[in-house]
Amino acid sequence: MNPLFDSVGRRLLFSFDPETAHGLSIRALAAGLPLARCPRQFPGLRMEVAGLSLANPLGMAAGYDKNGEAPDALLSLGFGFAEIGTVTPLPQAGNPKPRIFRLTEQNAVINRLGFNNEGHRRVLERLEARKGRPGIVGVNIGANKDSANRIADYEEGVRRFAPLASYLTVNISSPNTPGLRKMQAREILGGLLARLVSVRDEASPQGRPVPLFLKIAPDLEEAELDDIAAELLDKRIDGLVVSNTTLSRAGVSSLPNAEQAGGLSGRPLFERSTIMLARMRKRLGTAFPIIGVGGVDSAETAIEKIRAGADLVQLYTGMIYAGPSLPGRIVEGMGRFVRDERLRSIAEIRDSHLSAWADRNPPA
Ligand SMILES: Cc1cc2nc3c(=O)[nH]c(=O)nc-3n(C[C@H](O)[C@H](O)[C@H](O)COP(=O)(O)O)c2cc1C
Repeated sequence: MNPLFDSVGRRLLFSFDPETAHGLSIRALAAGLPLARCPRQFPGLRMEVAGLSLANPLGMAAGYDKNGEAPDALLSLGFGFAEIGTVTPLPQAGNPKPRIFRLTEQNAVINRLGFNNEGHRRVLERLEARKGRPGIVGVNIGANKDSANRIADYEEGVRRFAPLASYLTVNISSPNTPGLRKMQAREILGGLLARLVSVRDEASPQGRPVPLFLKIAPDLEEAELDDIAAELLDKRIDGLVVSNTTLSRAGVSSLPNAEQAGGLSGRPLFERSTIMLARMRKRLGTAFPIIGVGGVDSAETAIEKIRAGADLVQLYTGMIYAGPSLPGRIVEGMGRFVRDERLRSIAEIRDSHLSAWADRNPPA
């Protein structure tokens, strides 16, 4: 752990409630405070995934920078890409506070934010202002809670952000917008993906269409995974993000705050989300881009996601506990691993633990 953050920053931030601490960290990043050293570049970590050229496979997951206030500062911490959002068409307050809870003993968090964000217009302005800067910045899109037509909300997100985003992630897996996860059911999903691909193609008249990813929950049954995989391949979606937070409380049920409603993230999510990732890799085949998310908090856990089938990896909760030097330390650790194992690319180890993960049962 970074000694300075460990001794001062974390104690300071943890003296605030989680949402205030989060706001302070965003403000510090957006103000350009030098919170961590940018790691070296490692040729063995360079990646081409879904047509994107990344300096390394580690990204900031959605939900940290919901309004696109600090994507360049996140990239400067060492992340190879940053996903902003979830953004909904209209600004939205989200659920009543408090709505983020730390489970400190397990380096975990439960949140029920409910897509609080400033809406498309404000986030578009920020992306316009950084237009032309290097770095992969994806936009995660969602639907307003009170929308009369949620599919239209996603269509609007694709239409508006396609010209400015490096990629788009369709988030239908938040547990905190009632009914949203039902859009993962095949009857709705097939139609939604077909519409979004067509809107995306219309919004990219010249040049390469912006890659379109789908983000799923980790709480799906085998038959649901089958259906989703079939639709992803049939509709030629460009990538899959596995996973969002879980409704399961396996491994944390005795801890303070475990009874709070919402999605659990962090260390206890690692096993479940990695099993789901491997199961989807088996269904989607070797060529399909997959981003593994859930409980990554070290070079070892990032490497294990790749061994389980991930091309790219994201994290969020790990940084709450380990601070802004975490991405740099993970990238350095992965770089050392590639050198010590004499690999040409970290991608060489992808799928090396695929069956072991796919065959495991999720923690009950
Ligand atoms: C406070 C909080 C807010 C989040 N908000 C979003 C969001 O707006 N959209 C989204 O797709 N995922 C959101 N997530 C889920 C993360 O992107 C990620 O999928 C999940 O937390 C698992 O990764 P982790 O264990 O590294 O945190 C949020 C997670 C947390 C902890």
